[in-house]
Amino acid sequence: MSDLSSLKSVFEEKGQGHVFAGWGELSPDGREELLADCEKIDFDWIEKRWGEFSEARDAVSRLTGLEPAPVVELPRRSGDAAKNRAAAVGEELLRQGKVAAFLVAGGQGTRLGFDGPKGCFPLGPVSGKTLFQWHAEQIRARSRRYGTPIPWYIMTSRDNDAATRKYFADNGYLGLDPGGVFFFRQGMVPTLDFSGRLLLASPSRLALNPNGHGGSLSGLRASGALDDMRGRGIEMISYFQVDNPLVTICDPVFLGWHVQGRADMSSKVLEKNAPGEKIGIVCVRDGRTHVVEYSDLDAVTMNARAPDGRLKFWAGSIAIHVINVDFVERVGGHGLLPWHQARKKVAHFAGGGIVEPKMENAVKFEMFVFDALPFAERSVTLEVRREHEFAPVKNAVGVDSAESSRALLSACFRGWLSSLGINPSAAIDGGEASAVEISPLYSLDAAELAAKVKPTGLKLERKLLLG
Ligand code: UD1
Repeated sequence: MSDLSSLKSVFEEKGQGHVFAGWGELSPDGREELLADCEKIDFDWIEKRWGEFSEARDAVSRLTGLEPAPVVELPRRSGDAAKNRAAAVGEELLRQGKVAAFLVAGGQGTRLGFDGPKGCFPLGPVSGKTLFQWHAEQIRARSRRYGTPIPWYIMTSRDNDAATRKYFADNGYLGLDPGGVFFFRQGMVPTLDFSGRLLLASPSRLALNPNGHGGSLSGLRASGALDDMRGRGIEMISYFQVDNPLVTICDPVFLGWHVQGRADMSSKVLEKNAPGEKIGIVCVRDGRTHVVEYSDLDAVTMNARAPDGRLKFWAGSIAIHVINVDFVERVGGHGLLPWHQARKKVAHFAGGGIVEPKMENAVKFEMFVFDALPFAERSVTLEVRREHEFAPVKNAVGVDSAESSRALLSACFRGWLSSLGINPSAAIDGGEASAVEISPLYSLDAAELAAKVKPTGLKLERKLLLG
């Protein structure tokens, strides 16, 4: 433990002496906690971030020179030869055991307002199974299909790591081999107030926030996950977010396009449903692929139209990537990714109690994984169908809520059934659409379902669970 008086004087010299104001009232454990947090503070990092924040860079000027990214667009016909070739390449990689699944689940999930790791959120439209269970079942089903174990790396953060590990342990690792599940914690960084001062979360803890999913690249290296991958012969990472139960984990078609394009890092996109849809856009600047986050888009870029009337920047990122292990080695942990700033309302300890601010009072700094794209020599951008691949759970109600996600899942599975001629209508008896759930362990896709279900053998009820 550092010497208290020297630590205090450094903090005072840097204008951060207030964090020790309650030292006299702290228990011995509390003092240890506070010292442990303070010892990790990197004042150079704070000064740089604070400098960037104070400069308040003009978002519009950063958006010059953008052009739409070249996109591998949806096949116009079914049975498309190029898609089939890509699938064959991807399937071979999976059979050879060269692909790992990688989930980023360290976010704070504040918008959903769920108490606990977001992956524990019950989402199954009929079963109520959790997001983690969905993802685990898909990984099990794909391992089974390709006859090879698919290791699963999961990034957590300080705040949800213990609860996430406990959930997996209490639930038998969701049917997975515990030796194939690897958890690691992402880094945390200090949250600052609008004067550049460190905030306290409690009398004995600094307010810290996870360093963003961009922290996964350095986290994979620092935690030993990358070495573990190399030990298993993994060459490619199938990266996905916890919030999308329709994600196709280790998608052979995507892997195939990525490899054929000799890409370092690739992205899936879909056509934005409105200029203001809250998803990043994939574009190109100076010959390099970029994602511009929706919150950084100016109105002109957002609304720009191509000559055919389509949005010029129509390709919305759904935060699904394939990333080469070698590329992570190259960009992770070298301080290459920029830091983004987000102004937030952050409850904190001050004046003897917890203050719940009514207005934004703090800035959080985060790195985004898609900022690695410009470092890729080559990158493939693949268009996918929204109704097959995107049902995000972000908000408590309304757009991108649990309700909308469940409805999208059900609609996707109803589509699979209707392709078999089973109750093509979305609504029963003129009433609500039926809730349909098909476990990935039952069928990973419509083709597998077709091999199992006879069109005449099934009547679609108000609720249907195939699992
Ligand atoms: C994200 C993307 C957006 C994309 C959209 C698609 C960002 C900044 N934006 O938006 O471009 O179009 O998804 O749904 O990512 N996470 C961590 N650690 C962190 C922060 C987040 O692991 O420090 C994880 C979360 O657990 C979650 C994912 O990253 O799995 C997404 O984070 P979130 O901040 O919710 O991104 P969105 O704003 O939803």
